[in-house]
Amino acid sequence: MVTRDALLKASTKQPDEAAGTRFFVQELHGRILLVLGDARSVLEYIPNYSVALIVTDPPYGVQYKTGHRKVYNTETINRGLKDDDVRARQLMHGTLWRCSDLLTSEGAMYVFCNIEENMILNEILKGCMPYSGTTLFWIKNNWSAGNLKDYAKRVECIAWARKGKHILRGGRDHNVLYFNRVGGKDMIHPTEKPVPLLEYLLAKSSSRDDLVLDPFSGSGSLAQAALLTGRYAIAIEQDRAFWNASLMRLCQSAIPVDPTTLQPELVLSSPSFSS
Ligand SMILES: C[S@@+](CC[C@H](N)C(=O)[O-])C[C@H]1O[C@@H](n2cnc3c(N)ncnc32)[C@H](O)[C@@H]1O
Repeated sequence: MVTRDALLKASTKQPDEAAGTRFFVQELHGRILLVLGDARSVLEYIPNYSVALIVTDPPYGVQYKTGHRKVYNTETINRGLKDDDVRARQLMHGTLWRCSDLLTSEGAMYVFCNIEENMILNEILKGCMPYSGTTLFWIKNNWSAGNLKDYAKRVECIAWARKGKHILRGGRDHNVLYFNRVGGKDMIHPTEKPVPLLEYLLAKSSSRDDLVLDPFSGSGSLAQAALLTGRYAIAIEQDRAFWNASLMRLCQSAIPVDPTTLQPELVLSSPSFSS
């Protein structure tokens, strides 16, 4: 595969060498490329018109104060962005425009966001994609972390847009989706998306053996959904702790990989597997 070869060729030899414009690629199960690096650099190595579907959840410059889980704290989630909305939007704008170039003429893009960001996001998608669709509403079984003086949020938006030849598989569904959020001890990332919801989106807008992409992959949830549904995936994450956690999660997925066959240093430094 041209994309795979281009990314592997550009990869640094060790994850510790990934910084700035340099990135590290770990291939798993012959289907997943887990990339440690800045999406803005990595996307330049992916050929135009090579990706069938993009499902992503960009950083919005929101601070997360409830760092009581495995691998994250308030710094790692928005490293380099802090609560700087302008920089977060610039990152989202630039990345989504590039993502649009990567999609085939049958491709589509789903982007998670909160209600406040939905209008801005739709404007960006209208600019970079030929057709923008109706926003999907994900209703959760439980509410997310947030300001204790405000109402708790149980709804998240998924903006989506498509290229001209895209078709929704299995016919037309309504735009309200009910899926449990990831919670408790299973949670790796504070904004982690549930794999069943991602599997649903993959089933609606891609086919088996298609290449799917998440440029802001966090816990690697999309890569896991891709593996379980027989897609190829590229998942990019710049934060080392999240990247390590997603690597370990994927090692244990579907077709288990023996972590000792990876570089030992990767395994030992994974916070979620240290206990
Ligand atoms: C909202 S979270 C994604 C969570 C993910 N959907 C999941 O299910 O776990 C956004 C992620 O983007 C990462 N990120 C921020 N800027 C990035 C960049 N320039 N390149 C790659 N990843 C970046 C953050 O570290 C964070 O983990």
